[in-house]
Amino acid sequence: MARKKIIAGNWKMNMTPSEAVELINTLKPLVKTEEADVVFCVPAIDIIPAVEAAKGSNIQIGAENLYFEEKGAFTGEISPAMLTDAGVKFVVIGHSERRQYFAETNETVNKKVLKAFEHGITPIVCCGESLEQREQGITIDWIRQQIKIAFLNVTADQAKTAVIAYEPIWAIGTGKTATSDQAEEVCGAIRKCIGEIYDEATAAAIRIQYGGSVNAKTAPELFTKPDIDGGLVGGASLKPEFGQIVNWH
Ligand code: PGA
Repeated sequence: MARKKIIAGNWKMNMTPSEAVELINTLKPLVKTEEADVVFCVPAIDIIPAVEAAKGSNIQIGAENLYFEEKGAFTGEISPAMLTDAGVKFVVIGHSERRQYFAETNETVNKKVLKAFEHGITPIVCCGESLEQREQGITIDWIRQQIKIAFLNVTADQAKTAVIAYEPIWAIGTGKTATSDQAEEVCGAIRKCIGEIYDEATAAAIRIQYGGSVNAKTAPELFTKPDIDGGLVGGASLKPEFGQIVNWH
């Protein structure tokens, strides 16, 4: 069965609640499609107004993070139950910015992935190499390690529903999109790794996105590659251009 594309916006730390509503109202008519899942991953404070604004449309709302405990003395954190109660369906986990600025590790990523599944939230598990790692020729080894640890104790049935976002750090926010061949090479290696951890059926079912300066020009070539099932889009998800990315063909 062909995998359904999934195109997600990652708003990062942009948009106040009222701006979020305005942006969703602008984008709603532009991102209509049956062919892909369309997800807006928004800052925590924007989730409730975003869910409300997206009602009756094909837009699903995701979070950009969650904490791996149920509740309690964890000042400043957001629990998975808070997210599901607010209507969240997806959560970005282990984005390179969180690894870089907020000390996330492969181990905390794994805990968050397990917690998201426990609550029925689909994780968008991020991985990616730095420019130094690419130049050293260790990209695939590095990504395999990130994936193997992120999926520790995740069942095959859970993994089948997961989303992985391959985001080379050197391509994020730089305007330097990976070539479609570079992206396909790593996305293919990720699928192979999932096949090794689980089985062929799981590898065939899991959806793998490319992220890193995706725009309306680069999306069509990226999204036609066999192992690329859509994109995680930062900067261009805040503009009407996102509509063109969603309707890439
Ligand atoms: P970008 O961000 O599209 O602005 O490069 C992608 C991401 O970080 O998810």
